[in-house]
Amino acid sequence: MSEFIKEQFFIVTGASSGLGEATALELNKQGASVVAIARREDKLKELKSKCANPDNLYIEVKDLSQDIDNLPDYIKTLKEKYGKFRGMAYCAGAGSIIPIRALTYQDTLKLFNINYFAPLFMAKGILDKRNNIGKGFSLVCIASSAGVSPSKGQCIYSGSKGALIMSIKAISKEVSSYGARVNCVSPSIIKTPMTVNDEGILKDDNKEKYPFGWGEPHDVANMICYLLSDKAKYISGQNYVIDSGGSL
Ligand SMILES: NC(=O)c1ccc[n+]([C@@H]2O[C@H](COP(=O)([O-])OP(=O)(O)OC[C@H]3O[C@@H](n4cnc5c(N)ncnc54)[C@H](OP(=O)(O)O)[C@@H]3O)[C@@H](O)[C@H]2O)c1
Repeated sequence: MSEFIKEQFFIVTGASSGLGEATALELNKQGASVVAIARREDKLKELKSKCANPDNLYIEVKDLSQDIDNLPDYIKTLKEKYGKFRGMAYCAGAGSIIPIRALTYQDTLKLFNINYFAPLFMAKGILDKRNNIGKGFSLVCIASSAGVSPSKGQCIYSGSKGALIMSIKAISKEVSSYGARVNCVSPSIIKTPMTVNDEGILKDDNKEKYPFGWGEPHDVANMICYLLSDKAKYISGQNYVIDSGGSL
């Protein structure tokens, strides 16, 4: 049975690759309409061609690191085009391994822009009651297990994800008054273009930490779709680590 109907619109950022792509495909398969956002239009077109219900997948090309202050207005524009949203999965993001000795302010700002400031201001936009359906609305942001249990070289990455986890927790207390829910999921190492192209991450010795090995994108997408659905109607302000029990 389908979990969603096509009149229910969800934004998925980072839909051109990895965890965002898997989430967009799963939501679309489960019957929802998906507004898929990323910078690479060719990849979004590929995504549409892979969808179970391609007519219910809408492409929006956007660099979320630019003009962050105006992201709430961007959400308003999307609302005017598609109607009020039932939910959003914020899956855009970037990784970074930089030791403290090599840190620059510019590197820090760049990573925080896409991993922290952009989700925060997209959240501000979509949590505006004029842009969402009200009770039943659900937002899920992808943080990282590094946001609660960092490794060497992750001082900015873990900082950006830890900050996101705490902000989402705080926001949950503001929006519960009208029945909206917000949560984070925090995966460990999942096989996506972000990790498979990085030999340092997918080292065999690293693998032993995780009882079930590396995760697959759908392991995370399934959890996100659950949290976006009414099955999770009593869950808000949480951060779910998805790591086969290995990273903490
Ligand atoms: N894979 C893992 O092991 C893992 C583990 C924990 C957490 N995470 C987190 O999960 C999220 C997704 O990671 P992934 O593995 O799916 O990575 P990925 O395959 O590299 O995908 C990253 C996505 O973010 C989008 N994106 C990046 N910068 C953007 C920008 N400025 N504006 C708009 N979109 C942008 C990319 O789209 P375009 O390039 O087309 O714009 C792409 O769709 C990240 O936040 C990552 O930190 C991943």
